[in-house]
Amino acid sequence: MATHHIAVIPGDGIGQEVMPEGIKALRAVQDTVTGLHLDFETFPWGTDYYCDHGAMMPESAMKTLAEFDAIYFGAVGDPTRVPDHITLNGLILPIRKSFQQYACIRPAKLLPGAPCPLVGKTPADIDFVVVRENTEGEYADTGGVVHRGTPYELALQTSVFTRTGCERIMRFAFELARKRNQKRHVTSVTKSNAQKHSMVFWDEIFREVAADYPDIATSSNLVDAAAMNFVRRPEVFDVLVASNLFADILTDLGAVIMGGMGFAPSANLNPERTYPSMFESVHGSAPDIQGRGLANPLATIWAGQMMLDFLGETDAAARMLRALETHVADGTVVTPDLGGTASTSAVGDQYCAILRQQAG
Ligand code: NAI
Ligand code: MG
Repeated sequence: MATHHIAVIPGDGIGQEVMPEGIKALRAVQDTVTGLHLDFETFPWGTDYYCDHGAMMPESAMKTLAEFDAIYFGAVGDPTRVPDHITLNGLILPIRKSFQQYACIRPAKLLPGAPCPLVGKTPADIDFVVVRENTEGEYADTGGVVHRGTPYELALQTSVFTRTGCERIMRFAFELARKRNQKRHVTSVTKSNAQKHSMVFWDEIFREVAADYPDIATSSNLVDAAAMNFVRRPEVFDVLVASNLFADILTDLGAVIMGGMGFAPSANLNPERTYPSMFESVHGSAPDIQGRGLANPLATIWAGQMMLDFLGETDAAARMLRALETHVADGTVVTPDLGGTASTSAVGDQYCAILRQQAG
């Protein structure tokens, strides 16, 4: 009997609306798989907590979370009350960094029935994974502002690229291309024409790592060309590896071509399993739609599916993916972003009904 202890952090905005649906879906699959037991504990960390306590999470939070097998995360951000750089740097970024969740996996997979804005592209054309470096690069949090309030004030935000950091994320991408066993191809996203220090270094390490994987084909795209190719010919991609910022930007585009922010899941993995990994949607707290039951919970449900897969529950994960495919192909109970009128919880209920039905 496997019991997986899951820490749940709904966070802000629609995080609080989609997370209950994710848990509902995970409980539903648990009912259909003998021996699977999921134990959830919810933590009220986020902007409300900040307003009461002056911190996004308590000082002991990392110690508390370290005891869990995985973290299931909603979203963070409430910009009218607290600036985003405080909320993100107080919750999600420290978890990613302290737990060495250096491999952020963001699939862009168009399911049959999902609305694709690209003319003439079908599910056969959009099925790739962006591997995002998640602990350093442009989000390394090094820099400062000096001469505040004078005409000479200046801001420095320094990117950090370490050999260890680049090598491990690139190896992860190559291993993933092997495991997927589809096009067996890795694209490195770079900008070495303009960034002659960090990105030339990135390119060098990519070539070195690639030499260890002669069975995997490679190419290198400048980030602007990669953005263009997401739209023009997404079918060329299999696995992409990119720095923290580049992949952050590209995966919003990846989300849109797979049907919208309501679909796109994300896994922040500590591949060595020394620390818990964290599973969330790509989207944020969506203040523009919060509190109205409009949020699509499928991205969060899909992230839950990735969590089970990483926890080794491959049967349960396969069931969840099959139910997702059926739900999307059916398309009758969907939220407004997919052209429907169903509420967040109605979508969750319908998803669970499909899951149970498929289990017989
Ligand atoms: P966002 O992803 O929250 O929303 C972008 C657009 O997509 C909005 O129009 C929103 O309504 C729509 N959308 C997002 N998720 C949806 C869903 N599940 N169903 C239907 N529509 C959905 O990004 P935005 O507006 O730039 O940021 C809002 C807040 O979220 C900010 O405070 C930002 O810092 C934070 N944020 C947090 C992230 C995280 O927790 N990992 C990631 C991205 C942003
Ligand atoms: Mg983003």
